Amino acid sequence: MDCLSRRKFLKLTAVGLIPLGIGHFAPSAFAKTHVLKVYKSPSCGCCRAWVDHMRSAGFRVVATDVTDLRPIKNKLGVFPELWSCHSAIIDGYVIEGHVPAREVIRLLRDRPKAIGLAVPEMPIGSPGMEQGSRRDPFQVILFSSTRRSVFATYPERNDMKV
Ligand code: CU
Ligand code: CU
Repeated sequence: MDCLSRRKFLKLTAVGLIPLGIGHFAPSAFAKTHVLKVYKSPSCGCCRAWVDHMRSAGFRVVATDVTDLRPIKNKLGVFPELWSCHSAIIDGYVIEGHVPAREVIRLLRDRPKAIGLAVPEMPIGSPGMEQGSRRDPFQVILFSSTRRSVFATYPERNDMKV
């Protein structure tokens, strides 16, 4: 059933019956209908910077300060290897860590079967973790309780030339 409808979908897109592409999508639509609920530590500056990043991408954000995030991460089904500083929920998906807004937009548009997206730890140069123009390579992981896959890859960037 799942498979069939997927194949049908691919067929339809192949002949151009369903227009695809980010151009057809306005992030502000999500800002109106969905709230991004963020759980973060009260002292974490990078969490706040990520919230700002999401807000400027058009998301409506409600942030809650929590002293111990571990029980929340466990409850949300985020495995310890995927943990970052903050955890968020939007429209039934979990967003763990410094996930770029555009990946969240793609997740909400494509709606894959998953718990959510994670950027484990806190890579330098991910949204909210900016340090000049430096970026450590990082991956956005799509995860469910049994599966993990790479949703997006952000290569290293280092133009620290003086
Ligand atoms: Cu952080
Ligand atoms: Cu954070």
